[in-house]
Amino acid sequence: MKAINFKKLQNEFKSFENKEVLLQGWIRTNRNQKEFGFINLNDGSTVSNLQVVYDKTLNNFEDVSKYRVGCALSVYGIVVLTPQMQQPFELKATKIILEGDCPENYPIQPKRHTKEFLREQAHLRSRTNLFNATFKIRSLLAYAIHNFFREKDFLYVHTPLITANDAEGAGEVFQVTTLDLNKLPKDDKGNVDFSKDFFGKQANLTVSGQLEAETFALAFKNVYTFGPTFRAENSNTTRHASEFWMIEPEMAFADLNDDMDIIEEMVKYVVKYVLDNAKEEMMFFEKFVCPGKIKQLEELLSSHIVRCDYEEAIKIFKNSKKKFEVDINYGDDLTTEHEKYLTDEYFKTPVFLTNWPKEIKAFYMKLNPDGKTVAAVDLLVPGSGELVGGSQREENLDLLMKRMEELHIPQKGMEWYLDLRRFGSVYHSGFGLGFERLIMYVTGIENIRDSIPYPRTPRNCEF
Ligand code: 4AD
Ligand code: MG
Repeated sequence: MKAINFKKLQNEFKSFENKEVLLQGWIRTNRNQKEFGFINLNDGSTVSNLQVVYDKTLNNFEDVSKYRVGCALSVYGIVVLTPQMQQPFELKATKIILEGDCPENYPIQPKRHTKEFLREQAHLRSRTNLFNATFKIRSLLAYAIHNFFREKDFLYVHTPLITANDAEGAGEVFQVTTLDLNKLPKDDKGNVDFSKDFFGKQANLTVSGQLEAETFALAFKNVYTFGPTFRAENSNTTRHASEFWMIEPEMAFADLNDDMDIIEEMVKYVVKYVLDNAKEEMMFFEKFVCPGKIKQLEELLSSHIVRCDYEEAIKIFKNSKKKFEVDINYGDDLTTEHEKYLTDEYFKTPVFLTNWPKEIKAFYMKLNPDGKTVAAVDLLVPGSGELVGGSQREENLDLLMKRMEELHIPQKGMEWYLDLRRFGSVYHSGFGLGFERLIMYVTGIENIRDSIPYPRTPRNCEF
């Protein structure tokens, strides 16, 4: 007999009435008395457990009563409908096989564990309801994102993870080298001789697939990449990870407004997808993690995301009676409290913040006619702050080279990127959406370390 998964059984239990089925999973609780007992079995397919009832008709009754939390079992049994009980059916065991024993020192006991403790047990934490629900949502969101772009006919491109460029120009790259760090080869000037390194030059893990995605956009028009990115940014916050996943669409013949239209459509699409397809998990978050979340997401679906210029936002801060910890002036980047003020207090919705001073944005962003701002956009959302960063790209070769010069970005190694402006250049736009921040926004989880299976953060690379 092949095992059925509990979710399927839950959805179709009536058609299984009085039939024998096999379920396989792990014990969450085992309570018993002299003559009978109850096992709550979880097989990972949903946050809820199957109730197994067993009694003395089992020849291994005495053993079964001693099976501890965490044991792996195969349970054969008859589906019995229990309309008068809280759960509409249970399994009356006919045979229980112990597949994997679990000693008493199993760390995941049926009690409240702190998230910090569970991070230390990240290899086991997926056996808790919180992480079962979280990684279901994570998986479903990834699926929804691919669905969205496939429906829109975007090409899915795999951009490289090892590169020789720093797409954001922020110097936050992890080097990739096979040189012996204790015996570095030096040139005549005493500098490390990277010509002796694996790639014959300095290489690093990518901080963004954007630049390569642009090359594909100028061939296929509409493309996206979705993969891991790496940042050696020494910020220990609840929203920064050193390895995170990013969705980066890139569109030719698209300006900043087109960019925002797609961001808005995509975010709404994936939120709706999860509300429609992960009802049980979303109810779990609503109940135990972030009350009010479902209503907040439903409101997003029926509203239009506010679009506000950076300059306007500065005026809003200046005119507000609120006392900010950090005073903000034109030219400054927003801090968390400013983002929060806009999304949680002033607009009370997600906000597109547009047309930022060029000094605080990346080199590739299109200079506006005013000569001081760039056609950039950040989408700020309640809870996770900056969810999306995007822009129209500078398609003019001279302006782009001038900007690179100002920021001391060497042209060497970037000729291929400049070629896009030499050969059939066209206005184009794109954005990057932080996948973990999306998960945080959708679920209400407050720490990025709980949205990714094995978080990497400064001084932390376990598992
Ligand atoms: O704003 P960022 O740095 O933009 C880019 O990388 C562009 N190349 C994107 C593009 O236009 N194709 O990053 C984009 C998004 C942020 O808005 C944020 O959601 C997420 O990526 N992000 C991080 N998420 C987790 N940990 C970090 N350290 C992150 N840094 C950025
Ligand atoms: Mg950004």
